[in-house]
Amino acid sequence: MTSGWRGNGTGNSSVNYNSNGVTFAASADNIGAVFDVLKPTQLENAVVEMVVNVSSEFKTSGANLQIFAQVKNTWAGEWNCWSNNSEFAANTDATLTCTIDEADDRFNQSVNDVQVGIQAKGTNSAGTVTIKSAKITLAASSSSSSATSSSSGSVYSANVDHLRDLADFPIGVAVSNTDSPTYNILTNASEKAVVEKHFDQMTAGNIMKMSYLHPNNNTGTISDYNFTNADAFVDYALAKNMTVHGHTLVWHSDYQVPGFMKNWSGTSADFLTAIESHVTNIVDHFEAKGNIVSWDVVNEALTDGNPSVFRTDSPFYIKSGNSAVYIERAFLAARAANATVDLYYNDYNIEQNNSKTTKMMEMITDFQTRNIPINGVGFQMHVCLRYPNASTIAAAMQKVVAKGLKVKITELDVAVNQPYCDSYPANKISSFTMTVALEQKKRYCDIIKAYLDTVPVNLRGGISVWGTTDANTWLDSLYATQFNNEKISWPLLFDTNYNDKPALRGFADALQSISCTNM
Ligand code: XIL
Repeated sequence: MTSGWRGNGTGNSSVNYNSNGVTFAASADNIGAVFDVLKPTQLENAVVEMVVNVSSEFKTSGANLQIFAQVKNTWAGEWNCWSNNSEFAANTDATLTCTIDEADDRFNQSVNDVQVGIQAKGTNSAGTVTIKSAKITLAASSSSSSATSSSSGSVYSANVDHLRDLADFPIGVAVSNTDSPTYNILTNASEKAVVEKHFDQMTAGNIMKMSYLHPNNNTGTISDYNFTNADAFVDYALAKNMTVHGHTLVWHSDYQVPGFMKNWSGTSADFLTAIESHVTNIVDHFEAKGNIVSWDVVNEALTDGNPSVFRTDSPFYIKSGNSAVYIERAFLAARAANATVDLYYNDYNIEQNNSKTTKMMEMITDFQTRNIPINGVGFQMHVCLRYPNASTIAAAMQKVVAKGLKVKITELDVAVNQPYCDSYPANKISSFTMTVALEQKKRYCDIIKAYLDTVPVNLRGGISVWGTTDANTWLDSLYATQFNNEKISWPLLFDTNYNDKPALRGFADALQSISCTNM
């Protein structure tokens, strides 16, 4: 090769021709080399193969490589091809392939020129890459009418081997058991496969909530508890070397407050004692398993709106004698039961850095002043595609960090549609196109990056997503009326067939210090 290549990316790197091939300096993220494929070449389902050789500086920089194809002028393209740094050895040839199978007909082109290239990925990219050969094999039977069949055949891959391996803190996921039999982690093979591949911590979506574990208080003994389903779930986690985040010891949400607590008619002093024994018995029971590393001790005790106050309509508040004292009593009991497990206060919308965040920080300051044990704050993070922005999220987390407490993202999902986001339904997004998917990818990346930039290593409690597949997100049920029973929140990392979504790549990009882009 002696001509036809040029540098691409910021600052337009240059290319050198030499006896080995074409060399470019991989001096930054998105720097690489490209060549043109002129119209009307049919590139749909074509396979690009390159033999490359990287310098030792490139290898040690940790940079990755990405083969890509781009329709010139629109710059839409194939960005799914990814080769991790681990696939290379310095000064050794590696053969990389990339199928141009973007899930639409953009490469079924008769009027556009395309550029095909390879670029460095990773903010610390350095060293040189030599392209020794490049070959494009066109799809055997591509005909001009293949636009529809092409999209059905292509499955997106985020090229992530194990998301959990990219972080040195827990990467968790909420799963179902008997509460959602179709998606039961103990019986659904797809659910198991994706959980075991990518996560090292689980949260029970429901079955460790109050009414599931502690349905009645007839006798006041441990036999009033029902641990069967939760034990099966925790044992599964144990068998797979996963830890469990316990969720949740005290939560006012009506559907899961045990009847005997809702209808409590005894004194408030006795009610507080009952809450203490509830917390003690559950924490004790699971301590014996050995893999419950943290608990949401109290969930959602604060109101939305300005000013935010302790929820006065919570049965716990009412039965405690119109007092929020049940919160500290729960934390004290949990600590007394287990000296080392991390104790969290968990809530939603606190990432908006709003009056609820302020009220929560007041509570934390008060707890710390009075030596009420608390280790961290769980940010549920049921967020919108475009709100709140990453700097707001970071500012809210920073307040918790400033108190020396851990920050855990406990229930992350990024709703494409949500009735309280982005003036729904005026701005309803009706289909999950690649453009939307890539916006969501960047959003996941921006959120994880905000977490990494804000929370120091010793205060990282981990990041958990609230579910696996978009087919089983709680948001579509929660907003069924507003959504007209359409499933249009698409908030998770895997699509309805358990295939990777670009969101997974975005999550991984942040963990790998690759810049967040919607490409
Ligand atoms: C949700 C579950 O995912 C649903 O299956 C259930 O019907 C309602 O609760 N905040 C929390 C979680 O702390 O416990 C909620 O889980 C989602 C909001």
